[in-house]
Amino acid sequence: MCGIIGYIGSKKASSVMLDSLRKLEYRGYDSVGMAVFDKELRARKGIGRVDLVNDRLDFQELKGNVGIAHTRWATHGGVTDDNSHPHFDCTGKVVIVHNGIIENFLELKDQLKRLGHGFKSDTDSEVVAHLIEKYLDLGNTFYDSVIKSVGELKGSFALLALYAGEPDKIIAVRKDSPLVIGVGEGENFIASDVPAFLKHSRKAVFLKNHDVAVITKDAISIYNLETCREEVKQIQRIDWNVEQAEKTGFPHFMLKEIFEQPTTLRQALNQNMQKLNNTLREIKQARRVYFIAAGTSYHASMIGKQLLARKGIGSECVIASEYKNIINMVDDDTVVVAISQSGETADLIEAVRESKKNGAKVFSIINGPGSTLTRISDDTIYIYAGPEIGVASTKAFTGQLAVLYLMAMPELKDELITLSNKLEEMLKKEGLIRRIAEKIRNANDVYFLGKGLNYPTALEAALKLKEISYIHAEGMPAGELKHGTLALIEKGVPVMVFAPKNEFFHETISGAQEVKARGGYLIGFGDEKHEVFDEFLKVPKTLPELYPLIFTIIFQLLSYYTSILRGNNPDFPRNLAKSVTVK
Ligand code: F6R
Repeated sequence: MCGIIGYIGSKKASSVMLDSLRKLEYRGYDSVGMAVFDKELRARKGIGRVDLVNDRLDFQELKGNVGIAHTRWATHGGVTDDNSHPHFDCTGKVVIVHNGIIENFLELKDQLKRLGHGFKSDTDSEVVAHLIEKYLDLGNTFYDSVIKSVGELKGSFALLALYAGEPDKIIAVRKDSPLVIGVGEGENFIASDVPAFLKHSRKAVFLKNHDVAVITKDAISIYNLETCREEVKQIQRIDWNVEQAEKTGFPHFMLKEIFEQPTTLRQALNQNMQKLNNTLREIKQARRVYFIAAGTSYHASMIGKQLLARKGIGSECVIASEYKNIINMVDDDTVVVAISQSGETADLIEAVRESKKNGAKVFSIINGPGSTLTRISDDTIYIYAGPEIGVASTKAFTGQLAVLYLMAMPELKDELITLSNKLEEMLKKEGLIRRIAEKIRNANDVYFLGKGLNYPTALEAALKLKEISYIHAEGMPAGELKHGTLALIEKGVPVMVFAPKNEFFHETISGAQEVKARGGYLIGFGDEKHEVFDEFLKVPKTLPELYPLIFTIIFQLLSYYTSILRGNNPDFPRNLAKSVTVK
């Protein structure tokens, strides 16, 4: 992943970029660095989170009004100071930052070494600086050198380059990794994502694949790498406000985003019903329907599948990285519903591209405005959750569910709107949920059980707990435990059960009884207490279909507090980053 930012204007670039790096940290936090031009190119970089590295290196000592910066999620090359970006050429006159993967870097590195280039890092990215140097040495302009260098690269990249010989511009290139320009007055920004410059500008130009942008303080020119023609800039107004990208008094983005859900649910429900009806009609008419998504979005899709099934519409859910298993079933009589918070998940983008090649119609349910998926889908339904910065997805999940409910069961719209009040009620139970977190904080394993729509809920609960508390967790259908996993239940193992009084209540309770008989510690969530539970948290009554939305607040808060009690930072889970833009 990685987050990149470039600034050119009359402010101190290091100060602007330091702030932007904090906003992009959700994309990676292994190391951080920046380079600015101040008579010559100067850089500082090192391993660790932005603020820690800044404490050591004081980025703001770097003067100059143009610069590029990077926060890294390591893919090629370990987490070391040398592997941190930015990377220079041999002369120190070219510097780059990169997000993505250069697949042929070993081959290029060998060629460049044979030409006498010396490398300082193990990264794939460093080859780009040396390639640009090679073409500059041959007498090319900076722009032509970048174009020729990019022509040699295979893989995915969002690249920013600065050259001391032409320090009035940043050159940016995009292929398969996101880049967006923030348009200012006498200054411009280029970043992996909008929050990086939201404080300064709400005017954005999303680069398309194969775009190359030449950005000066007063002008932006965009060319297509393949046609070499200048493109018309399409400036989009971003209706996110600055507070949405700040913690606004919450200790973590994750908690803030959990608490935003009554509002974001209402926002997600504010849809053009005609458009949703048309999408549903296309789904009904298609011979095959595939939901494709990853992680949390995949769990949302599993709920979508069950909602459609209740209306007699068959569909399948496919994990994005597994799409190849079904791609030969995808044809022009297929509808693909791609679900994604970011709209930039590499596996999903590939799945959608391949599905389109086979003639499928693709609808996407997305949060990220201007994201790649919105451009390659036939139509996009936005969930309007605002920026989701916590690495663990929260409000995007409930937003995705809201859209799926509304599309499959528009008759529930009024009840869904009132549900936002019930979510408020659940948020008030924060203290009770924290007490449950205290009970499980030292557990080695936690199990979540649910049936029907609450089975994907259990899967999402387990994912949330795992990724931020690092406790092993599993979600499963309540009736499935006895087919194997029951062997793992012994005295005191926490088992959480989503047990609303719906058509599956008795079967769910029978799964809980099996756990009880083996000594498991049972924590139940529902609208009516049952004696099997050692502990029970009562939730407000709603329609049987809608409990997943209510339970979501519980497991999100539970995961959050378990993470806190174990001394973790829930906004920065180890080894993870948001927006998985690499395969
Ligand atoms: C988990 C989480 C991930 C994402 C997954 C897909 O909390 O955030 O599992 O859901 O990487 O990302 P999007 O939805 O952006 O495609």
